[in-house]
Amino acid sequence: MIKLLSLTLSLCISAVLFAQQQHNLIIDTKNPIAEVSPTMWGVFFEDINFAADGGIYAELVKNRSFEFRNPMQGWRTVGLSMDKGEALVINRQAEVSSNFRFMRINLANKKEPCGIQNEGFRGMGIKAGENYNFYIQAKTADKNMGMQLELIDENKEVIASASYQQFTNEWQEHHVSFKAGKTVEKAQLKVLFTGEGIIDIDMISLFPENTWKMRPKGLRADLVALLDSLHPGFVRFPGGCIVEGYDLENRYQWKKTVGPIEDRTVIKSRWMDEFRHRMAPDYYQSYGVGFYEYFLLSEDLKAQPLPILNCGMACQYNSKEVCQMDEIGPYIQDALDLIEFANGTTTSTWGKLRADMGHPEPFNLKYLGIGNEQWGPQYVERFIEFQKTLKDQHPEIVLIAASGPTPDERSEYLWTELTKLKAEILDEHYYKDPNWFYTNTTRYDSFDRNGPKVFAGEYASHTKGGNAPESRNNWEAALSEAAFMTGLERNADVVVMTAYAPLFAHKEAWQWNPDMIWFDNLQAMPTPNYYVQQIFSLNMGDRVLPITENNLPLSGQNSLYSSVTIDDSKKELLIKLVNSSNEKKAVNLKINGAKINSKSVMSMETLSSDLDTFNEVGGGNNFEKEVSQIALKSKLLTFDLAPLSVNVVKITLSK
Ligand code: AHR
Repeated sequence: MIKLLSLTLSLCISAVLFAQQQHNLIIDTKNPIAEVSPTMWGVFFEDINFAADGGIYAELVKNRSFEFRNPMQGWRTVGLSMDKGEALVINRQAEVSSNFRFMRINLANKKEPCGIQNEGFRGMGIKAGENYNFYIQAKTADKNMGMQLELIDENKEVIASASYQQFTNEWQEHHVSFKAGKTVEKAQLKVLFTGEGIIDIDMISLFPENTWKMRPKGLRADLVALLDSLHPGFVRFPGGCIVEGYDLENRYQWKKTVGPIEDRTVIKSRWMDEFRHRMAPDYYQSYGVGFYEYFLLSEDLKAQPLPILNCGMACQYNSKEVCQMDEIGPYIQDALDLIEFANGTTTSTWGKLRADMGHPEPFNLKYLGIGNEQWGPQYVERFIEFQKTLKDQHPEIVLIAASGPTPDERSEYLWTELTKLKAEILDEHYYKDPNWFYTNTTRYDSFDRNGPKVFAGEYASHTKGGNAPESRNNWEAALSEAAFMTGLERNADVVVMTAYAPLFAHKEAWQWNPDMIWFDNLQAMPTPNYYVQQIFSLNMGDRVLPITENNLPLSGQNSLYSSVTIDDSKKELLIKLVNSSNEKKAVNLKINGAKINSKSVMSMETLSSDLDTFNEVGGGNNFEKEVSQIALKSKLLTFDLAPLSVNVVKITLSK
């Protein structure tokens, strides 16, 4: 059982006699060792585990435009025979290049309403009392054609319905709103037609009205709210391996994800069949969430947008395909055009598209990632080309280079080569066991202060080995990440960006485990790893101060790990302390060089638990937080750290 302990900290000027070992810690407020980058704690949105379609994108209809390999995947006919041609999927590829399929329904001689039924993404999450917006593109010459909509529950009972009768003979979007009468986790949608005749339909869509910021066809409000509560410094998107693709054909091409959603080309997700134990044959990318939406999300969260682009290399775990060096031009052009899309004037080609989509103001892009987990000389060669052009034309954009998938000889090679090239930031990834995280809290202590900075771009503690289904988001993993994060913060002069990965997972449709936020069709549940991220990001100061025991930085001695920052505007000390042992630790804390008196306010938050505790979607939250505040009267504090705990002590210094 997780307990969030609100510990009473007692002031103690004279020495206190304890049987247990005392830890005499000293904070030196006069000698800061680093500035903390505002981008220090960010999030990494990756379209894996149904994080986009079926996840943050609030669309409830799967395969809304019949573009999956099997155009009827997710659909079934109701009262119509496809064999008899009563429902036909029609290909108009010669006319349009994306979204080229639509459905033709022929209702000749039908007495009952007939049509199609969609199963949603593992069902549709519907909430009683909420409004839902249905959209359809349709065209019919038959004026008597009507439409009947029904949401049905798992027992086929109708929980919401609506009807409509204003179709025209031109392709046009039609919109119907209705309210649901019942909460259902796995509802389905029937789209039925009445009358005599033929109707063509496409882009069949259902969204809750209550999306993030109530934007029509927007994002799932509860999932974005959880990101918002993290106050992330940046949002990295859209991956991950989907940037690379299984092969170059399957790579992420941002230009195909912007503009009207019906023009965005649906592609197969590379996660569909990556893991045999977690196949997801219905995993596609509709790009309803595309680069415009990612920029907007970053802006909503007041976070720096951090897009990662393909660098002419497909996933090196998969096809290992690379573009020819003399064919790298279009990849670099994509980067130039993206900068124009994000920052260009509204009279520029791509800046105009941004404005047409509803955002004339620039998105203020400052960072751009070149490739995901690339390695080898083939990456260096390609990075050089990107660097040359981008630094020449856009010196203001900070480029983030890859350093392979894990810290090993491949990343050492890239550190050497990319340092020679004066790369600005390198993206490090580590999915390791808890012990690795504990022993690597000092990883960056010895990094060259004059070399590239570090983006700890993907990390997570895996208790049962790399991506094992049995690895859980338990306290054992989260505690080791917290210890490691003190090492990241202590080295804020080298480490400038960090993100846990992956971010989201649908409880039934995941491929990768563990993940920071789990959800089903109705609700989401943060993990202890989420709460560790949050306690760090909400307690981030401007400068790092040294904290020592016996004149050594506290980085694992006696299972204690710490980092301290000061928030200059609030004059607040933020002291993170992790105790990874099974024993309570007694701390005497001395703060040198600061004014602390009876007006100083002190509080301490503690998360602690048994190592195997975790949260489950639909279950209770074992990680509720409490804060107690205590006045401080002198410079020496005495308090205990609970076993297996992550703590933040806040002290407001007197002005
Ligand atoms: O986060 C899961 C995957 O791990 C990412 O797509 C990839 O970058 C890494 O291998």
